[in-house]
Amino acid sequence: MRKKIVAGNWKCNTNVSEGIELAKAVDKLTAKEAANDVVVILGVPFTHLTKVVESVDVNRIGVAAQNCAAEAKGAFTGEVSAEMVKSTGADYVILGHSERREYYGETSEILNKKLALALANGLTPIYCCGEPLEVREKEQQNVFVKNQLEETIFKLSVEDFKKLIIAYEPIWAIGTGKTATSDQAQEIHAFIRETIANKFGNEIADDVSILYGGSCKPGNAKELFANKDVDGGLIGGASLKADDFLGIINGF
Ligand code: PGA
Repeated sequence: MRKKIVAGNWKCNTNVSEGIELAKAVDKLTAKEAANDVVVILGVPFTHLTKVVESVDVNRIGVAAQNCAAEAKGAFTGEVSAEMVKSTGADYVILGHSERREYYGETSEILNKKLALALANGLTPIYCCGEPLEVREKEQQNVFVKNQLEETIFKLSVEDFKKLIIAYEPIWAIGTGKTATSDQAQEIHAFIRETIANKFGNEIADDVSILYGGSCKPGNAKELFANKDVDGGLIGGASLKADDFLGIINGF
């Protein structure tokens, strides 16, 4: 069954105590006021994972890392493996975010290793895709995104593919205050779903949750989430304020 999902992506923000405070605030607000058919996930820095897991009701709130290593273990100074992430109690990992592709050189080849390790360790990948502005201006976004999917998650087995959450995030909308219009979001989400149907069949395409990301706020969430192929959001800036995050969750 396709789920409604709102996932926060805190990026490189908050120290540990600020993070715990934010997680607790989200926990408290959502316990009282959030629609209970929405899956809420907090994507937090590695340093916060264990503490955030302890600070929230994990039956209602999922916890995600924002990355994991492309190797299982060994002499890779500074890396955090999928197994380590799982051992904190986190159940999700954001993979393929455009900031990681752009600033840390994450290629499809690297992503495929991360996807395999995340899945082997029982983590649910939140797989990100999306085009830069110059591609959108040439109206080549569908070709671009299809290529991202073909190089990565379309190489998974059907069984593994079924475990994924997908996030479409146009790079030109991330942190810019410029949101895709509701029509633009629906159009490309429908395209992604159709592309998945062609590859894995209608039933699997129908079941996968496709989130929108890029300057999603309480003021535009409702319109975006009203689209039939938009199953929620991956939220950066607005996930750093518990009230705004709740406002987005209640956009459903
Ligand atoms: P934003 O970021 O909501 O701040 O635009 C979204 C994301 O990068 O996941």
